[in-house]
Parts: sequence; structure tokens; C-alpha cells
Amino acid sequence: MWWRDAVVYQVYPRSFQDSDGDGVGDLRGIAQRLEHLAYLGVDALWLSPIYPSPLADFGYDVSDYTGVDPRFGTLSDLDVLVAKAHRLDLRLLLDFVPCHTSIEHPWFREHPDWYIWSPVDGPPNNWVAAFGGPAWSRDERSGRWYLHSFYPEQPDLDWRNQEVVEAMQGVVRFWLDRGVDGFRVDAIDRLMKDAELRDDPPATTPFPFPLSPEAERLEMRYSGNRPEAIEALGAVRAAAGDALLVGEVYRPTAEYPRWLEVLDLVFGFEFLLSPWDAERLRAAIEPAARLERVAWVMSNHDFDRLATRVGPENLRAAAVLLLTLPGVAFVYQGDELGLANGPGHEPPFDRAGRDRLRHPMQWDAGPTGGFTTGEPWLPLVDPQERNVGAQRGDPGSLLELYRRLLSVRRTLDDGFRLLNAEPGVVAFERGAHTVAVNTTGEPRTAPPGEPVLATHDGPGLPAQSALIVRN
Ligand code: GLC
Repeated sequence: MWWRDAVVYQVYPRSFQDSDGDGVGDLRGIAQRLEHLAYLGVDALWLSPIYPSPLADFGYDVSDYTGVDPRFGTLSDLDVLVAKAHRLDLRLLLDFVPCHTSIEHPWFREHPDWYIWSPVDGPPNNWVAAFGGPAWSRDERSGRWYLHSFYPEQPDLDWRNQEVVEAMQGVVRFWLDRGVDGFRVDAIDRLMKDAELRDDPPATTPFPFPLSPEAERLEMRYSGNRPEAIEALGAVRAAAGDALLVGEVYRPTAEYPRWLEVLDLVFGFEFLLSPWDAERLRAAIEPAARLERVAWVMSNHDFDRLATRVGPENLRAAAVLLLTLPGVAFVYQGDELGLANGPGHEPPFDRAGRDRLRHPMQWDAGPTGGFTTGEPWLPLVDPQERNVGAQRGDPGSLLELYRRLLSVRRTLDDGFRLLNAEPGVVAFERGAHTVAVNTTGEPRTAPPGEPVLATHDGPGLPAQSALIVRN
């Protein structure tokens, strides 16, 4: 199992590297920059969607599951990228978006029965979409109402229809035949809905993660989070064989075991969304670590960037935590540089406000950061202040800390035990090593042992630092 303690690097294709000067990243650009991933020492890359898309949800509205969006290149560019990744000993994961297609996918007109329609002339229930508003919209052409768990441009597929299951299995096989090594599986807590379309009941306890105000008021009992989804995903698993499947399940850790019956990994949202506070982090880590197959992740294209969430002063300690926990970790592009949220765009490209997490990679100090020779689709944030060229080889840089961590993590034993630590400290044993992370602005006591890696010069465990020692 190549992925058991892998580090997967998330590439946001629009913003990684542009090779043709149109200001949008592309597959050839990614191939040109793969050495950066090899230099860091990660094991794999995950590409956010590369399929043809009208971009209502920036690629998560797919209009052809077995194509490459011309803005990103061609199928043969993808083949070249996969081959180059494999030569560099990097595995490649694609994003698989099974819950919904784009409304412009030909299936929506050719196979309307592959989608979910209201049996009445209007919304049949109180379900709300993830980004707010009703989950039902009227299709102007047919006059019927269809279900969309996300934007209205993303009609939900009906996974109770065997033809949908088979078509999507075909998609999985198509990409595996082209050599990809697995998939990140999008939004699967919404994959299946109640067959009777019953109303979601009012929420009795607050949901632990951010939701739209309308969604907050309801418990997602019938509009998603259905046990039937496990069976549907079983069909995906059957098509995927032993390829890696990482699920995006926006639910608390306690609910993950059933999803892990069919998936290899799920993202740990409690950890991702935890404030930078030792108590809260420990509470997120403990149950997730027990499941062993919860992937550690601290940011992605949907949530505030790591530097913005934890503050630049905590970035080095956060890197140590992310990369020393047991099992698989995901790193979002740019986090290794300390890239913070950017200004986004006016008017916004993404109606849910996520442009500011998606600014281009900063390769050099030039005005377009080496990302493009043209006009970047989103401006660069601060290439003069942080870029790969400047940080590479500088022993004090965040980039070089990531690189050292990636090599030290190979030497950590399988074992994992959270330790009782001083207030504000997350500490744990990895076999013969101890890791201590000080989340506070004051010094704390360093664990005894021979230092292997520190975020700081000098002894001890100063404010906002972390340390790995050999016991
Ligand atoms: C996932 C993606 C997000 C997208 C949504 C709908 O949560 O990460 O970017 O908007 O699914 O596909």
C-alpha cells in the first residue's frame, strides 16, 4: 500500500503554472513544475477537477467526465503528466465528482431520468443547498423542478438509477486505464438522498462545522448523509479496485467508520476546522487517529488558507503538527510558502467567496510570480515577499522546513500516543520519537531527548514553536 503514510500535495490546476500565457494554469504547466514536488519529497499529487466545465463551481460542475478542459490542455497532456509523475515516483490522483454534473452536461438533456426531479410542480420538501437557498430549481426547458445540493448549475445525479452507477463506474475505469492512481471523491455526504424525499427535521444540536444560515437550521437527515451512500460507493470501489479513494465527507469524525468500509481514507474535517488551540486540536486528533485512516489536512481550496487561519507566527509549528501525525497528510499548494488568503476578485468568480484561497503559486519575485507570462486570472498575492525561488535552499525558510519534515517523517515509527502535556501544548509519541507543539505565545517545557528537528534556533520550546526529539 503505497499511501499508508503518504503526503499528498493538492494542486489547484488553474493556479499552479500557466504554460501558454493565457493567465490560467494548465497541465503542461503542472508537468513543468513537478520537480518542485519531487524536491519537497511528497508522494503524490491530487489535481482539483481538470474536466470540461462551464465554471459555475470552478470545475466541480463537470460537463464531460472523460475529457480535459481545453483551457487545461488535452488528454495527451494528461498522459504526459501522469508518465512524468510516475518517473519522479509521484502518484497522481484525480478529483471524482459523483454527486452532480454541470447542468450543461449532455446527460441532463439526453438522460433526464439520471437526475432527481420533484414529483410536484415546485419543491417537494424543505431541503436547502450547501451554499444557501432551496435545493430545487425549475428547469426552464421542461418546466420540471430538479434537485441540486450545491449551485443550481449542478443538478444531482440519481445514484438509485443503475445506469448512473454504470456510467460512473465507466468513468473510474477510463482514468485508471490511463494510469491514474486514485481519486479524491467529492462531496459524498450528499451522494444519496431519501427515496421518499422527506423533509429534513429542524436541527436540535448545532452542527460542528460552518454551514449556510439556512442549512444550519436543519438536520441533514434526508437530503444527504444516507446509509445507502455506502452501497453506492461500493460500486465505485468495485470499479476502482485497489486504487486509492479519499472521500470528502463533511461530517464529524464519529460518523467516519461506515464510510471507511468502502473508502481508504476520509479527510479529517474536525482537524481541518479546529482553531489553533491545543485543547481543540487534541480533541480533533484523538478520535481521528484512532480510526487510523483519517487524512490530516489543514487547508484546501474551500477554506481559509493555513496562514490566514493560524496566523503567520504559527505556520512553522503547524507544519510540524500536520506532517508528524500518523498516516496520510495533505498539503495545499502554497502552504509550504506561507501563502495567505488573497484579495479575491471583484466581481467574484466564486459566488461562495472562495476566490481568495485560490490565488496563483508564487515561483519567483516577478510581478506575475513566474506563474504566467500573461495576465493572471487572479492577481498574485505577494510574490516579492514569498516565492519558491527565494525559499529554496534558504535553511530558515518555511519551504525548507517542509522539506526537512518530509524527510524526518520517514523515520518516525508507526506507533502513536497522545501525551498529557502542559496547557497549550500538543505532544505525542511516535515510537522512539516525541513531538511537542506549542500553540501559545509563551515558552513551554521541551520534552526530554535528543533534538531531531526544531522550528527555532536555540534550546527549549519557545512561544509558537515545535520540536521533535528522539527519546
Ligand atoms: C466539494 C468541493 C467544493 C465544491 C463542492 C461541490 O466540497 O471541494 O469546491 O464546491 O464539493 O462540488
